Amino acid sequence: MPIELFNDGIHLRLMFANFATEEGKAVQSNQFLIMNGSHAAIIDPGGNLAYNELYMGLTRHCPPHQLGTIVASHADPDIIASLDRWMTACPAKVYISTLWERFVPHFCKPGKTAGRIVGIPDEGMRIPIGKAALMALPAHFLHAEGNFQFWDPVSRILFSGDLGASIGGTPGKIVTSLRDHLPLMEPFHRRYMVSNKILKLWANMVDQLPISMIVPQHGAPLAGEAVREFIDWVKTLQCGVDLMSERNYTLPP
Ligand SMILES: [Fe+2]
Ligand SMILES: [Fe+2]
Repeated sequence: MPIELFNDGIHLRLMFANFATEEGKAVQSNQFLIMNGSHAAIIDPGGNLAYNELYMGLTRHCPPHQLGTIVASHADPDIIASLDRWMTACPAKVYISTLWERFVPHFCKPGKTAGRIVGIPDEGMRIPIGKAALMALPAHFLHAEGNFQFWDPVSRILFSGDLGASIGGTPGKIVTSLRDHLPLMEPFHRRYMVSNKILKLWANMVDQLPISMIVPQHGAPLAGEAVREFIDWVKTLQCGVDLMSERNYTLPP
């Protein structure tokens, strides 16, 4: 069953976290359904392993032809490899960084994406969903070169893509204190996030927003004190190119 992140009777935010992972061979990932009245959107629909559960979840709330919007943080397989099936099942437009606009048609049969991909410019944009909108926030290099997070002004949830991800915990259990959760986050962030410079730029940007939860694309949502603790943690985190040296670039034996 999906996890209800927010519901005020008109606006519903659901997290799908439990698709079949082929006995642990595929990384756990979260997909999100946004309902604003009768208008539906999906954030990071995932790969083919995630398709059936998400499709069934969507049809419990509206017919597929009401899915008008798919937003993608970046173009990794766990984000958007199911695109061909979604392009067949519904009339949605796909919002993704202009850097990936001409790459995502490779996930689909010829012609399926014609006129249906909207490039998000580097500076971000507001993406309308019914009478409300998602704000696409620049999160470049966290981790993809063209990368967006989606802040929802209604629920104040920040859908943070790969930033804030945890591997190996319980995705449905909301984390309110970061300390015990850090061992599940740290290795991923050290290797996949690009640099401390970028993390600081991001932290200074999101410090200006009211955020109720940071909900990543892998692992558990962060709420309460954990939101502030996470933003403070990344401000000092050394990662990615910060940690690279000659010893990472030697010829293999
Ligand atoms: Fe990714
Ligand atoms: Fe991911």
